[in-house]
Amino acid sequence: MAARPGPGPGPGPGPALGLALALLLLPPPPLLAGAGDARQEAAVRALARRLLGPRAAAVELSVEAALAAGGPDTYRLRSPAGAAVAVAVTGSSGVAAAAGLYRYLRDFCGCHLSWSGAQLRLPDPLPRLRAEIRASAPGRYRYYQNACTQSYSYAWWDWARWEREIDWMALSGINLAPAFAGQEAAWQRVYRSLGLNQSEIDGYFTGPAFLAWNRMGNLHGWAGPLPPAWHLKQLYLQYRIVERMRSLGMITVLPAFAGHVPQGVLRVFPHVNATRLGGWSHFDCTYSCTYLLDPEDPMFQVIGTLFLKELIKEFGTDHIYSADTFNEMTPLFSDPAYLSRVSNAVFRSMTGADPEALWLMQGWLFQHQPDFWQPAQVRALLHGVPLGRMIVLDLFAESKPVYQWTESFYGQPFIWCMLHNFGGNHGLFGTVEAINHGPFAARRFPNSTMVGTGLVPEGIEQNDMVYELMNELGWRQEPLDLPSWVTRYAERRYGTPNPAAASAWRLLLRSVYNCTGVCVNHNRSPLVRRPSLHMDTELWYNASDVYEAWRLLLSAGAELGSSPTFRYDLVDVTRQAAQQLVSNYYLSIRQAFQSHALPELLTAGGVLVYDLLPELDSLLSSHSLFLLGRWLESARAVATSDQEAEQYELNARNQVTLWGPSGNILDYANKQLGGLVLDYYGVRWSLFVSALVESLNSGSPFHQDQFNQAVFQVERGFVYNKKRYPAVPAGDTLEISRKLFLKYYPSALRRSRAGPA
Ligand SMILES: *[C@@H]1O[C@H](CO)[C@@H](O)[C@H](O)[C@H]1NC(C)=O
Ligand SMILES: *[C@@H]1O[C@H](CO)[C@@H](O)[C@H](O)[C@H]1NC(C)=O
Ligand SMILES: *[C@@H]1O[C@H](CO)[C@@H](O)[C@H](O)[C@H]1NC(C)=O
Ligand SMILES: *[C@@H]1O[C@H](CO)[C@@H](O)[C@H](O)[C@H]1NC(C)=O
Ligand SMILES: *[C@@H]1O[C@H](CO)[C@@H](O)[C@H](O)[C@H]1NC(C)=O
Repeated sequence: MAARPGPGPGPGPGPALGLALALLLLPPPPLLAGAGDARQEAAVRALARRLLGPRAAAVELSVEAALAAGGPDTYRLRSPAGAAVAVAVTGSSGVAAAAGLYRYLRDFCGCHLSWSGAQLRLPDPLPRLRAEIRASAPGRYRYYQNACTQSYSYAWWDWARWEREIDWMALSGINLAPAFAGQEAAWQRVYRSLGLNQSEIDGYFTGPAFLAWNRMGNLHGWAGPLPPAWHLKQLYLQYRIVERMRSLGMITVLPAFAGHVPQGVLRVFPHVNATRLGGWSHFDCTYSCTYLLDPEDPMFQVIGTLFLKELIKEFGTDHIYSADTFNEMTPLFSDPAYLSRVSNAVFRSMTGADPEALWLMQGWLFQHQPDFWQPAQVRALLHGVPLGRMIVLDLFAESKPVYQWTESFYGQPFIWCMLHNFGGNHGLFGTVEAINHGPFAARRFPNSTMVGTGLVPEGIEQNDMVYELMNELGWRQEPLDLPSWVTRYAERRYGTPNPAAASAWRLLLRSVYNCTGVCVNHNRSPLVRRPSLHMDTELWYNASDVYEAWRLLLSAGAELGSSPTFRYDLVDVTRQAAQQLVSNYYLSIRQAFQSHALPELLTAGGVLVYDLLPELDSLLSSHSLFLLGRWLESARAVATSDQEAEQYELNARNQVTLWGPSGNILDYANKQLGGLVLDYYGVRWSLFVSALVESLNSGSPFHQDQFNQAVFQVERGFVYNKKRYPAVPAGDTLEISRKLFLKYYPSALRRSRAGPA
């Protein structure tokens, strides 16, 4: 179907023209997709130089597509006799060569690379291999990113940060990932060309920290609008992201039209058939209840194809597109024929712009609303698209795999994904057994249509170990021996074998990282939740293991203290121990209150509010990756005016706290950051303890409703506060952790032996 602009008046002058002019200043559109061997080789060599500096010269990197012989990505490592280089790495793509390079660094040089830092002390001379090593990925794809990661983690990234991430992706062997930046600029052009005016567009886009949910049709307008400079910066980033990913042989996934439209479309096209969906999550129709176009409405194809053509014109394409129509939103009808019509309309709007289009869809909806998505509904949605023209991300496969009850997505290809993290929360967590066995079981499933593995955390920069493990598994044909893997992990991460650190990691492996059954990693510690008398303190592991790991890491501090990754882990494990301690104090507070024991209430409340939380705050403030200031200042740094800086900071503050104007998804994206613990969680706990004390003193009952109203003022006060927080660390992590340990460890142990009160 030909895509023609609707009868609207066409693009107006003003901001759109400004944007078009500014675009002339950007680098030219790159980008015919699919880089040849030579270009990929150059890209992976440049990556090696960024990673290893001059030492990169001792590694020869080459790309030969033929190495894979038409199969999945393959790399080969060897040390040619008499050659000047220690090792020659050949990959069937840039990504495969980068994965081969990391294999060499990891298994032969004892190196490690992660979000929290790198340990790249190379042996001198570099070790030579006794025999050739050859490895092929067990499937076509290794995928990375969740639609939400764009907002929880990447919202404020500049090119330098993106470049590091893409390097990490390549070294991890990831070959399929979204490139979603700048799509609002393209949408704005499309909406303008359809005849929407600027205020209609401004009322639609959310602010930068909430775009993920705008793109999925969940939200509009909240914390927006997007300033013109935002679009420019994101377009600039997108050019570079797409160019770099492709140069390494990665497949970029571009966004496509899912059927949601701004209200302005109804003004311009009064006869268009669009229906308002219900509110998303705890939002009412002020910021939610998006309009969904009827799949039969001709405008569906017009808008969808117009958008995709615009995007392809700008960025080229690798022919894979993402769209989520019913993510956490109930369709209007459960009639299978309707659901097939919707998915077919989405798919046709893709093929209208690119006949080779393949649709990549998040499969979250199926396990999120299982009552609605019965087999007939799932099958209908999936079969609205020709078999093989869709890839479903089995998004939460480590806990709630969908392929098992849908006959492997009724024949559509799927990727087995580890979700692992919600809201970018801090908290040690893992389902190591499920990820060590799940992908292999999924491949053996009868008539399995699995085509790869994926990492789809809502937020990154936490729990490095789990991601390193999953990346390694993405290239393996069988599971690993986990205890020996983690022992080696500790050694690589700190750059030297240390028995205490290795023991600490084995304890963490069997406790926090070994959640079995249906595990949802959403940090519900009382520390990060609005206080009440009914808080959940259940743990999926033995708390003593974390205290013991803490003791062991501290004992390794003298030897490992100079390692940045060790310091990061010491903060993280101390933080986890502190979070457990908060639960203990909370239980003491609650028990004292319920038994009308004022002195005990004052003691436990006092220690929590005046000692533990400030001490935790200063621990976090001692590490650059645990600073509220880093998050807020990175938001401000994107701004081009004071007004934008204020708006972005508000976005950043709101996302990690109230999540919406009135605490709609309160604390969903909670973080444990220096500054936030003291000025947000701490103030809240202080108010709670005071309210309980007041209640005992006056003999009047504690009213949660009244407390909630009062504490909302505190929470809101934090969001609108203008206090600036340092983006550089202060204080000595080891010293602070040791002090905390000496003060709390014995009582912590006694407490966890005795079990919760
Ligand atoms: C856009 O259109 C709406 C609806 O007609 C109108 O209320 C608004 O003033 C217009 N805004 C601009 C900037 O023209
Ligand atoms: C308008 O769309 C709704 C929902 O998609 C559909 O049920 C209805 O039949 C459509 N109406 C017309 C006149 O096509
Ligand atoms: C696998 O597919 C074949 C061929 O379509 C079919 O006969 C068989 O029943 C399927 N097996 C299972 C367990 O679904
Ligand atoms: C995880 O726990 C299960 C039992 O719940 C156990 O069988 C398994 O060995 C544990 N795995 C690790 C790595 O500790
Ligand atoms: C937890 O671990 C400690 C020591 O590591 C042990 O003494 C205790 O019995 C364990 N508790 C449970 C409930 O397994």
